Amino acid sequence: MTVHVLTRASLATQPLAAEMIRPLCDGGVGTRASFLTKTFAVSSIGRSLTLRISALGLYRAFINGHRVGDDLLTPGWTSYHARLSYQTYDVGHLLREGENVIEIWLGDGWYRSPLGWEGAQLSNVWGEHVAAIAELRDETGDVVLATDSSWRSGLLPIRKNGIYFGETFDARDQLVATSGTEVVEAFDPSTLLPHEIDGVREMPPLPVLAQFEDQEQRTIYDFGQNCAGYVSFTVRGQAGARVIIEHAEILDGAGNFNNANLRSAAARVEYTLSGVGEEHYKPTFSFFGYRYARVTIEGKATLTSIVSIPVTSIHARTGTFTCDHPLVNRLVENTWWSQVSNFIEVPTDCPQRDERFGWTGDAQVFARTACYLADSRAFLTKWIRDVIADQRPDGGISHVVPDPYQGHQAVLPRFYGSTGWGDAICVVPWVLYEHYGDTAILREALPAMLRWADYMWRLSDNGLARPALSWDEPGFTFGDWLQPKGRSEKPLPTIGDDAAATIYMFISSNIIAKTATVLGDIECAEQFTRRAALIKDAFVREFVMPTGRLLYDDQTSYALAILHDLVPAHLVPATARYFKAAIARTQGRIGTGFIGTPALLPALMKIGEPDLASAVFLQEQVPGWLYQVKRGATTIWERWDAIQADGSIFDPAMNSFNHYSYGAVCEFLFEHVAGFRPDPKRPGFEHILLQPQILPDLGSVHASHRTERGLIEVQWRTAGRDATYDVTIPEGASATFTLAQRYSNGTIDGAMFDGSSTVSSGAHRFTFKLPP
Ligand code: BGC
Repeated sequence: MTVHVLTRASLATQPLAAEMIRPLCDGGVGTRASFLTKTFAVSSIGRSLTLRISALGLYRAFINGHRVGDDLLTPGWTSYHARLSYQTYDVGHLLREGENVIEIWLGDGWYRSPLGWEGAQLSNVWGEHVAAIAELRDETGDVVLATDSSWRSGLLPIRKNGIYFGETFDARDQLVATSGTEVVEAFDPSTLLPHEIDGVREMPPLPVLAQFEDQEQRTIYDFGQNCAGYVSFTVRGQAGARVIIEHAEILDGAGNFNNANLRSAAARVEYTLSGVGEEHYKPTFSFFGYRYARVTIEGKATLTSIVSIPVTSIHARTGTFTCDHPLVNRLVENTWWSQVSNFIEVPTDCPQRDERFGWTGDAQVFARTACYLADSRAFLTKWIRDVIADQRPDGGISHVVPDPYQGHQAVLPRFYGSTGWGDAICVVPWVLYEHYGDTAILREALPAMLRWADYMWRLSDNGLARPALSWDEPGFTFGDWLQPKGRSEKPLPTIGDDAAATIYMFISSNIIAKTATVLGDIECAEQFTRRAALIKDAFVREFVMPTGRLLYDDQTSYALAILHDLVPAHLVPATARYFKAAIARTQGRIGTGFIGTPALLPALMKIGEPDLASAVFLQEQVPGWLYQVKRGATTIWERWDAIQADGSIFDPAMNSFNHYSYGAVCEFLFEHVAGFRPDPKRPGFEHILLQPQILPDLGSVHASHRTERGLIEVQWRTAGRDATYDVTIPEGASATFTLAQRYSNGTIDGAMFDGSSTVSSGAHRFTFKLPP
């Protein structure tokens, strides 16, 4: 007889043999948290036992008082109405022979705690009741324990919890199961699926770098790094004394703790001491975006230690870029920190204020950089599945995913369908394909891409986008959101919204044509090639003047049109001159917002202006990337001018200091400066395209990227006009080096070559001459 041994894979194909149950003592959103519990018997120990568990709300499980797993904010965040993750843990080591107790703590989480900014805030988005489902099986697959209405429930010491609120904990409370449970009949078990990504986990703790007291004797701790996470502290004192922690990203110009930008997010931790010995605390069901913590102590208590613990879903850094310019190095690190802080279950805009949403536009512009800096494959794939799940019946893509507004349209009736944002459904799968060679995500996303493209097409005037001005109307676009006009003022709508929207229709149509080609759907590929051509014709008719000047003479229109080949070839030299003139008018400062920014420097490279690209990149005034670094930023700001030159804060309520979008410039550093990228014809870095551009102001450059095949490493340096480019190509991959136009005298491993040269895996040295 063969003994059937249970594996995670075989388990994943079996439905959970348990019921979703809710604690009857739960008082609803914002009230005291509750737990579910059951005492059960295990006949022999040393067995392998597997727990599968999920919740409506957040859960944390304990067996015999020991925590199950080390992941946080479980079961994670998905479009819960369609997809709910469960976690799988081996828990044999936590069990003992005879009687055992399991406890499942429940928090409000994204499921029901208030989400959205004031005026558009919703509670109980996906449901009113927290609940959990759990099942324990032995190695033969027999069910040892399962949630059902025989479980008991009780209240936790967590007096209140919420994603934006934070957490209140009274350590004097005891856990007593005083109530029963009830099966949630309405729960649809077919929504359950194994967690698709790494769990949210703690990163190494950050110690206090500095501290001071304010006038009210509160201590402000500076951990030196903006991040998303929580503080962990140890305290000693009398029962009933309280420790209150507030969070802030910045000190204002006068050096005061300033968290006005959190808006309605209370982002507080309040801990009431039990008075017994040393007490350690960190929150269970919340996290914050902060660099500073302000601690108020009420009553008799002394804090004996405090650290900041960043948390993230991203655990494998795959990209580095360093050079001889310290501000650039810090910019790259700031981007990394903004990525880890905002890759918590969902790619969010920011981790601190009353949004923390999966804004599609932000993720779209950042996706390529995200894949260079970290292994983002599973993370972005999971999110794209949520984008698909939240697609509206008419094909519009939600502005934010998971979309809290979809089921509550009275609050924001048409909160979907912006170009540049909805195009995430096309751009992100294509980035995943190029980066990881993943055709499965293309196949999964294609139907949604088509519905999105048709939605935009129906709203257009034969390929010319006609954006509506109000976000309640179909066809509204965020345009080039936060685009600075002149020095740094933001107009809304941004310059050239209809041109930018038309360009994005073109970008997505092209991606669909390429996707269909990869998937072998020739008819679809032809249809979208034709559609892209129609959009281009419409664009040229409406926006490109016979002189090559664009109707909207702004940096974003030029950068996007040039980068995506929307300008007829014979006009490109003239258009390029107007583009440069637009940059000269802002004295080399950035004039682009969310969608124009990632295109700006690559477009300058495309017109053969690396020196101008370098000057725009490295200038240190506002708006510019390095301005914020010079002002001490440790993550990427939402606005170019978040803190103004005089130290004042621009628009305190609409200002995040941890928004990764503008960090999308790292894509330029990897692809144009370090000079490597995946060849879309042989994706996943099977074949690598090499074309470095020497930016002399960077001195020398070293960059690496761990692909799924192995490590790519490049290094360039110059001596006078001589440039040396050392590259290591991973096993099984090949690369083609193409000499950029203005360079000459190329050699590969000592031999001359003309134009381009293809090499196989291993270390190679290219040399070439820079122009005089
Ligand atoms: C968010 C974004 C987002 C934008 C929409 C903001 O409030 O923080 O980053 O993309 O709204 O334009």
